[in-house]
Amino acid sequence: MTERFEIVFEGRAVPVVAGQSLGAALHAAGIRSWRTTRFGGRPRGLFCGIGVCFDCLVSVNGAAPERACLTEAAPGDEVSAT
Ligand code: FES
Repeated sequence: MTERFEIVFEGRAVPVVAGQSLGAALHAAGIRSWRTTRFGGRPRGLFCGIGVCFDCLVSVNGAAPERACLTEAAPGDEVSAT
């Protein structure tokens, strides 16, 4: 049986299948963008999905920003936009 748990993104519970990246979980929950560009305020979320573009930065449990596409979700993670 597949393990499932939840993370919290900006106060919203997001379901996760064990092994998913934060980016995959957010995308599967219909969350397509979670930060904006410094200039122009354009929305950003997953783009390359392989750790190259840095468009997917998030803060996890108050730590420094990391790439959501490369970070495996853990039960209870508190994720916020950077
Ligand atoms: S989506 Fe490009 S680095 Fe994560």
